[in-house]
Parts: sequence; C-alpha cells; structure tokens
Amino acid sequence: MRAEWVRLDGGPADANALARAGEVIRQGGLVAFPTETVYGLGAHALDADAVAKIFDAKGRPAGDPVIVHLASADAVMAVAGSLPESARILTSTFWPGPLTVILDRGAAVPLRVTAGGHTVGVRVPAHPVALALLRAAGVPIAAPSANRFSRPSPTTADDVAEDLGDRVDMILDAGATMHGVESTVVDCTSAIPMVLRPGAITIEGLRLVLPHIEMRTSAVRDASAVLAAPGTLLKHYAPRAEVRLWTGGASLRSAVRHDLEQQVAAGRRVGALLVDDDRELTTGLAVECVSLGSLAHLDEAAARLFAALRALDRLHVDVIVVRDLGRAGLGLTIWDRLYRAAEGRVLESN
Ligand code: TXA
Ligand code: MG
Repeated sequence: MRAEWVRLDGGPADANALARAGEVIRQGGLVAFPTETVYGLGAHALDADAVAKIFDAKGRPAGDPVIVHLASADAVMAVAGSLPESARILTSTFWPGPLTVILDRGAAVPLRVTAGGHTVGVRVPAHPVALALLRAAGVPIAAPSANRFSRPSPTTADDVAEDLGDRVDMILDAGATMHGVESTVVDCTSAIPMVLRPGAITIEGLRLVLPHIEMRTSAVRDASAVLAAPGTLLKHYAPRAEVRLWTGGASLRSAVRHDLEQQVAAGRRVGALLVDDDRELTTGLAVECVSLGSLAHLDEAAARLFAALRALDRLHVDVIVVRDLGRAGLGLTIWDRLYRAAEGRVLESN
C-alpha cells in the first residue's frame, strides 16, 4: 500500500481532504499529519486495534505509550481520570500548543495507548491542520512522531514518506513544521510536577507559571532513564551515521576542529552539524556542512535539527561531528536530542 498524499494549501479543497482523513481515522486507519512540533502518526485513540497499527507501522516497542491528541481542552476529562491543579495551570497557559501533560488514565482509553500503565499523555496541538483533523474525526487521536522507531522525528511530509510511505493510509502535507522538536512532556500525577522530556516549551517558560516544577535529571543525561521512563531510550533520534557530540569549555571549538581533521584524515566521509558562528572550523576541510543557523536563534536551530540529521544521512556521511549549543532555554532540548542521537556518548574537550 502506498499512502495517499494530500497537499493542503489552506484553500477550500482542504475541507474535502480533511473530511476524508477524519473518516479514515474513524474507520481505524492511519493518517500522518502535521503538528506545530513534528509530524504525527495518528489513529483513533479509543480503538485498541487502530492504535496497535501505529506500533506495527513504526516498529515501536509496545512498552512505550503514545500521546492522545484532543481538539480542545474541554474534552480532557473524556480521556483522563482527573485534572490536578498543576495540569490546570499548565494547560490553561500552554494549550493549544507543544505541551503534553501526563494524567491519570480515563477508563475509555485502551491500555494499548498507555502501554499498560495507569497514566495517559494528553495534548491539544496548535497546528490548524491537526486541529481540523481532530474536529473532522470527532474522536481523540493517538499519535507518536511519524518516524520509524529510533529515527529522527519528521518535520516534513517527505520525511514521513521516507520512513512510513508504504505503512500509512494518508499523509497530510502542510509543509515544514514550526518548532521542529517535540512537545515538552510534564508528569502532573506527582505532588511536584516533573518534566520528563524537554521540548518546544522551555523549562524557564514552565517555571513562570509553576515555579516549583522540577526537571527529572535522568530525562536528559542518565542511562537509567531507560528503565524509569518509557520512550526515553538512548537510541533515539539516531541518524544512520555515527554522531560525535562534543561538549566542553573554552577549548570546545578547537576540539571540534581537531576532530574534523582527524576524521577526514582517517578517510571517513564526514558531516559537520554546526552553527554559522562555527563556519571557520571547517575551512579547507572536505566535509559536508549543514548549519543550524545562528547561535543567537536557538528556536531556528531546533527547527532545523532533525531535518539536518536526515539531510546528512542522505549525503551518506559515515560520521556527524556536532557540538553542544548550551543548556539554557531551547539549548537543553537540543542537547537532549543530540545526546540521544549520539546514543549517550559524549566527547569532552579539556
Ligand atoms: O510533539 C509531540 O509530542 C509529537 C506530536 C506528534 O504530538 N508526538 C511525539 O510522540 O513526540 P512520541 O510518541 O514520539 O513521544 C511521546 C513521548 C514518549 O517519550 C513517551 O514515552 C512519552 O511521551 N509518554 C507518552 N505517554 C506517556 C505516559 N503515560 N507516561 C510517561 N510518558 C509518556
Ligand atoms: Mg518520537
């Protein structure tokens, strides 16, 4: 089966396509659709068989729960057992938008969605196509990112087709997504709300409305997170090439330059995933460069990150050399994705 590919342009023809996509969801099929973060792979969230197809298509382990998407915050009690105060504050501030809250599972939600657990991840996306699809379907939509398991998340319909083109019924194409990194996931079931995955909303932003929110440190650096939290497996967002992730202080840039030289000298096909500020690090070297833009605009760097990893894969590089862009704001989200792309291996300059 090859997916039906529908290009949406905001014109009147969209309504027809969206109505059909809603019907595909209601009938238990799979529709890939854009959100403001990344493309999602959607199925009827209250239909366990439909949700099972998501896991099959992605090659995703059954132990990793999927997020339930809603057209409106008003529908949250249809899928959740309760709405704690922390979730009330967060959702009224950030929905519709790139925030997923973990709540007690409502009885209507199949255990397939929650990977057998008592909690459910819920979000109201901000993308007009995602919202239109949710309204057309008239049911909650379970959707992980629309990539094959452990691959970088898709930020364009082409990325979706590359991974899943023959495994979904329909792909709704509305161009590149805005944030380029996934939603921030916050567990609201504990007394102190915990960030499980840094994402498009920064921790600093969350703290403005919930000052006591905490970051589960293992969410970013610690391999024990594999056991503690589903979906935080280290081999994640991984391109086919080996990722050489550099961190460090004043000597970081010279370490990156030295590594690029060494990799080229070793006869490898080398990719550099850098920022414009680092351009001179590749001068005179035979490397494929992809820039994440300026260090001063981390929102742009985040938006380009997964696309850049995929672009370097398409150039068939053996190795991708990349450096830490800092941990403040979206820097932390970018670090998290790079750390997983590098499968937890970090190189330190001294
Ligand atoms: O931006 C996004 O969140 C995108 C778009 C499509 O909405 N979706 C997405 O889904 O990134 P996925 O499945 O690729 O990542 C969801 C993350 C996983 O790390 C999963 O383990 C976690 O959320 N998650 C989902 N339900 C959970 C639950 N009940 N408890 C803990 N973690 C949960
Ligand atoms: Mg994913």
